[in-house]
Amino acid sequence: MDIEEDIRSLQLDSAEENNGVVNPGDARPEEVEVVDKMEEDSEEVQAVSQPVHPEPKVKHKEVSAVEDAESQQETEGNNKRHLNVVFIGHVDAGKSTTGGQILFLSGQVDDRTIQKYEKEAKDKSRESWYMAYIMDTNEEERIKGKTVEVGRAHFETETTRFTILDAPGHKSYVPNMISGASQADIGVLVISARKGEFETGFEKGGQTREHVMLAKTLGVTKLLLVVNKMDDHTVNWSKERYDEIESKMTPFLKASGYNVKKDVQFLPISGLMGLNMKTRVDKSLCPWWNGPCLFEALDRIEITPRDPNGPFRMPIIDKFKDMGTVVMGKVESGSVREGDSLLVMPNKAQVKVLAIYCDDNRVRHAGPGENLRIRLSGIEEEDILSGFVLSSVAKPVAAVTEFIAQLQILELLDNAIFTAGYKAVLHIHAVVEECEIVELLHQIDLKTKKPMKKKVLFVKNGAIVVCRIQVCCMS
Ligand code: GTP
Ligand code: MG
Repeated sequence: MDIEEDIRSLQLDSAEENNGVVNPGDARPEEVEVVDKMEEDSEEVQAVSQPVHPEPKVKHKEVSAVEDAESQQETEGNNKRHLNVVFIGHVDAGKSTTGGQILFLSGQVDDRTIQKYEKEAKDKSRESWYMAYIMDTNEEERIKGKTVEVGRAHFETETTRFTILDAPGHKSYVPNMISGASQADIGVLVISARKGEFETGFEKGGQTREHVMLAKTLGVTKLLLVVNKMDDHTVNWSKERYDEIESKMTPFLKASGYNVKKDVQFLPISGLMGLNMKTRVDKSLCPWWNGPCLFEALDRIEITPRDPNGPFRMPIIDKFKDMGTVVMGKVESGSVREGDSLLVMPNKAQVKVLAIYCDDNRVRHAGPGENLRIRLSGIEEEDILSGFVLSSVAKPVAAVTEFIAQLQILELLDNAIFTAGYKAVLHIHAVVEECEIVELLHQIDLKTKKPMKKKVLFVKNGAIVVCRIQVCCMS
């Protein structure tokens, strides 16, 4: 495979554009000690993943800025918590616009850059897309007005340091969305309130449904459901339209496994205008809204804390060569320190941690939940595939070709039945593999949540079943 072809510049087109876009010196959590910045040349390029077949390539791009001395200063003493938030929803719902607006409102994009994007968008006959250009940094994305690669950026609220993962909505790029969601702790589901757009996204086959189901299965336990485009002339901050969307989404979210009271919060916004985002929407515009604005809601979200003392686990989503081998991923469990010896599983390759980077800052130590780049010695970049797991030596992650899992069947294509011999694609963290159901062991009673005694040969939509799964093509 020609890695050169896959290497992409992950920064904006020029240093000028970078200026002020993102503050990569976005602080550090309790567990992180800032050492210095990542070497300049290594920020320039980054290889994309060499995914395990059969899925198309999964791509990421960093929306990053040149760091100045001041922002480096700001990182000192900052011990806010850190959350990864994925923006999901149907194509054109306004995910990138909302993400871009967040960066603008948090002072990371200046007016001059916005004016430049306005001009560029106009030249491409995409006037209203200028805010989305903050997140959509590739030429292809800007021409088509569609996100392709997951955009990654950083911002802070009062209590939290956020990494934004801006997923594509188009159905061709679902593998990229899966990759974004699998790194997230919480999700912002963006729904367009514009007449006809909510309906298209919510139809069978629309990405509103698909993204919700995928997010739930990928472990996104909390959702903020933002009803966007409230400023649109077909909506005009109408309470009726907002209520209609909430009432239609609620049963669907419940059926997808979300506890709507505890895990989901609805709120109206205009991503394009930046309304009800950093500050609450004006009562003269939306007298009926008494809830929080987006920043407040993000600030208040609570998630179950992870164990910094657990065995170290970091599924590798990407790797590239840069004075050694650099791997990227989110720490799911445990902590890592410079100088640690670790294993790359399943190949049991012994590696040593040369350097750790968090939001472009070099750190000595990082805890669970952090999105990191780790430079390793002892392994060649060619010997790593995305989906491999950087693991503690004492308690390495188990490497198996067969395992038992409890599954909930949400939707089978073409009313198929689910039985031994069923073939599917398995997504766990960063791994994508074909698999086959070898045996159904028992069904779980939906009411009592206990295993049913009756032998089970097949199940249909809605069932919960415990089965033995075999991975077909272990590499
Ligand atoms: P994909 O990445 O292709 O899935 O789309 P997206 O969800 O990122 O949507 P994007 O931000 O690219 O916006 C799509 C279109 O909706 C653009 O024309 C935006 O200007 C428009 N849009 C987004 N948010 C708003 C909003 O709050 N109000 C109005 N009126 N238009 C909006
Ligand atoms: Mg987008």
